Amino acid sequence: MDKLRHRAEWKFFQSLPMADRRLATLWWAALLVRGALPAVFALTMGFLVGAVEAGRSLTVPLVAMGASFVLLQVLAPWHEAVSTALGNRLSAWLNDELTTSCVEPPGVGHLEDPELTNDLTTAREFDQGMTGPPMNLNVGFIASGLVEMVSGIAAAAVLLGFTWWAPLLLGGAWASTHWLLRESSIWRDRNTDAVRSAQRHADYAYRLAVDPPPAKELRLFGLQGWAVDRFRARRRRLFELQYEATRLRQKPVLVSLLVVAATNGLVFWALGSAASSGELSLAELVVYAQLSVGVSAVAFGGFNWALDGAAAPVAAVLRLKAAMAPAGALHQLGDRIPASRAPRTDLRISNLRFTYPRTDRPIYDGLDLTIPAGSSLAIVGQNGAGKTTLAKLLCRLYDPDSGAIEVDGVDLRALDLSAWRSQVTAVFQDFVRFDLSLRDNVAPGGASDADILASLRDAGAADLADLDTVLAKGYEGGTDLSGGQWQRVALARALCAVRRGAGLVLLDEPTAQLDVRGEAAIFDRILEATRDVTTILISHRFSTVRHADRIAVLEQGQVIELGSHDELMRTEGRYRTMFDLQASRFTASADEEGVEYDVLA
Ligand SMILES: Nc1ncnc2c1ncn2[C@@H]1O[C@H](COP(=O)(O)OP(=O)(O)O)[C@@H](O)[C@H]1O
Ligand SMILES: [Mg+2]
Repeated sequence: MDKLRHRAEWKFFQSLPMADRRLATLWWAALLVRGALPAVFALTMGFLVGAVEAGRSLTVPLVAMGASFVLLQVLAPWHEAVSTALGNRLSAWLNDELTTSCVEPPGVGHLEDPELTNDLTTAREFDQGMTGPPMNLNVGFIASGLVEMVSGIAAAAVLLGFTWWAPLLLGGAWASTHWLLRESSIWRDRNTDAVRSAQRHADYAYRLAVDPPPAKELRLFGLQGWAVDRFRARRRRLFELQYEATRLRQKPVLVSLLVVAATNGLVFWALGSAASSGELSLAELVVYAQLSVGVSAVAFGGFNWALDGAAAPVAAVLRLKAAMAPAGALHQLGDRIPASRAPRTDLRISNLRFTYPRTDRPIYDGLDLTIPAGSSLAIVGQNGAGKTTLAKLLCRLYDPDSGAIEVDGVDLRALDLSAWRSQVTAVFQDFVRFDLSLRDNVAPGGASDADILASLRDAGAADLADLDTVLAKGYEGGTDLSGGQWQRVALARALCAVRRGAGLVLLDEPTAQLDVRGEAAIFDRILEATRDVTTILISHRFSTVRHADRIAVLEQGQVIELGSHDELMRTEGRYRTMFDLQASRFTASADEEGVEYDVLA
């Protein structure tokens, strides 16, 4: 029983009433009535034949027969409509559960956890028709499958009136087809590695051909024919795999046929001899012969894969619901101390150790760094040095393993989370581009137009577009921006937050899409605009951050050099080497073209 409760199918049926109790009740009721009706119909027919034989009035049997027949016909489309509605409600319920599971945890660990990725994909895409039919169709398939099964069982139950062994034998034979043909559902073949791989390749080639972004390179490099050939080859491979899988099943199909033919032969022979010896009346023979045929409904063909397809996302969503909360949790220390205009004295990172969940190499192990309030710090270091991770920790999207980040002497974990987050603003490398107006992109939480315009000016995006322009194509009057323009909008968003009271600004390579000179110039403007707050500027370019008050060189999770540009140049260490290397490229090439050669790539 416990094992059953853990099965995805069980969870599917459990979730139906949670999605909509009334529809689920109607769905089950219609299902049971529809399942019982074929047996009832067989009985009314026997009733009619009996009346004819005995010369009784045919009115009652005819009316009963007609009524059950009409009910059978009417209930089917009605049940289908209920199934569609219930399927839609189930989809909506699953979507709601998934969005809250994703959004509610205060951290982001649950969204970056590789162990949850598979479930997340299943849960996210179940209704897009990529992995199977949408839920509203699946619930209908499941309903038809269950109706058949119930009608088969009902037929078998009434057939007990003839003899005990006939329903057992027939039921067993028809049910065994499930077992004999259990590998036969085409759907299961889609889940083999070979099929998935062929499918992925076919999808990829298809998208290369039909999506607008690759269209430029496809033409430029003359790859049109290649893309089409590739798609055809992969699709052919898919068909071949399906064909092979079908051929493999000829034997179990043959065995099933033999088993079913033999048992049916036996039962009908018994019926025939009972009838000819007078043991069975004509009316009884009519009923039992129909029921014997009716038992075959337990071989409900399309039921398994529909249930597989419908239950998988339900199970995935429920698993995610349980797993995401702890994975994205943060650990509050003590009271939620309010933070306002923080930091006032300093931001202190001491003996910080942090490891990403499910990895075993710490990103930092004993990192120390103090940032005086109101100063600017540039953090430079190569790709993978842990710069972005530090920004995430400062936003408290993760908590450290040990050690602490303190704001004005208070552990970040003791601060009220939303109060702290309102003090921090950040431009991440993968900042969000809202399909919203320029105004809302700069101030998603609202701000005066004066603040918004001033922020845009500070970010070097004064004349980008009208504030009401939607920054996405496909909307009326909408426009798309270049990568560099988007970065300026994201910067304006951070600068606007500063105007609205944020005390700490984190800029994680916010200008990576600008050329070196553009980046250096905009960094200087930002430092100017954020003079009164604490600014942390992250860059992998050593040659663009010279005007920050202090520069920290991060390498292998440690600050290996710290000081002003002049101090670090005098030290003649890592910073000096990298600065000279990058600056020489900068003067050699960027002067004329603004081209950058990223020596760290
Ligand atoms: N969510 C994550 N889970 C596991 N490892 C991660 C995750 N994010 C980043 N890393 C790893 O942590 C290291 C530091 O990453 P990051 O802080 O992004 O570096 P940087 O910003 O300096 O380029 C890299 O080796 C990266 O692969
Ligand atoms: Mg980074």
